[in-house]
Amino acid sequence: MKTTSPDIQRVARQHLKTSELLGVDFVPVRQDKAAAERVKAKTQALEELHQRHDKTCPHCTASTDHTQTVFGEGNPDADLLFVGEAPGEQEDRTGRPFVGRAGKKLDDIIHAMGLKREDVYIANVLKSRPPNNRTPLAQEVEGCSPFLTEQIQIIEPRVIVTLGGPATKLLLNTDIGITRLRGQWARCLFGETEIDVLPTFHPAYLLRNYTVQTRKEVWADMQAVMEKLEE
Ligand code: URA
Repeated sequence: MKTTSPDIQRVARQHLKTSELLGVDFVPVRQDKAAAERVKAKTQALEELHQRHDKTCPHCTASTDHTQTVFGEGNPDADLLFVGEAPGEQEDRTGRPFVGRAGKKLDDIIHAMGLKREDVYIANVLKSRPPNNRTPLAQEVEGCSPFLTEQIQIIEPRVIVTLGGPATKLLLNTDIGITRLRGQWARCLFGETEIDVLPTFHPAYLLRNYTVQTRKEVWADMQAVMEKLEE
């Protein structure tokens, strides 16, 4: 016997009802589809932002000290976003964030959290390398950082970890130093979305000050992040 469309719908409804009675309260296939559509839309939005940034960023288009911009990379739908300071020499050469020594340390931290680099998103306050890796100037941050804000609004992570002073200063809109702010949660508004932000030490600082104390502090911060992501 040929099954008509209303029959299929009735059988599907019965199946869902039975599943519900058995305690199944989600349909994985639909969730996967919704997630895939979200990733596609965010990938496209990030790509458009990337192109617009490279054409119009007042800082990066005027700067002559870099060879290429470093937009950021990772899962466009990540729950966790790391924000660093600015590309260094290796990042400038490869066009990828955190691939030098500090990047290897960040990779270690991400792996210790039970995550892979592809699970998270990694970006910087500035998308082009300052001369001699100096700290970004206020006017450079003012020019480039609106693109980071847009990037955050597209990704909509559940948690942002600011790595070091400049990222913390920017996202928390504060002049208080990283040593006082690290480990303290803040809630920041990006567009209409409030996001939990946790400042921690920059991996380069950790490499320069590789003590039991600094390692313990960063690990405590990452444990707090994992707990927040499990909520
Ligand atoms: N330091 C940063 O802050 N960002 C990078 O991408 C690399 C090193």
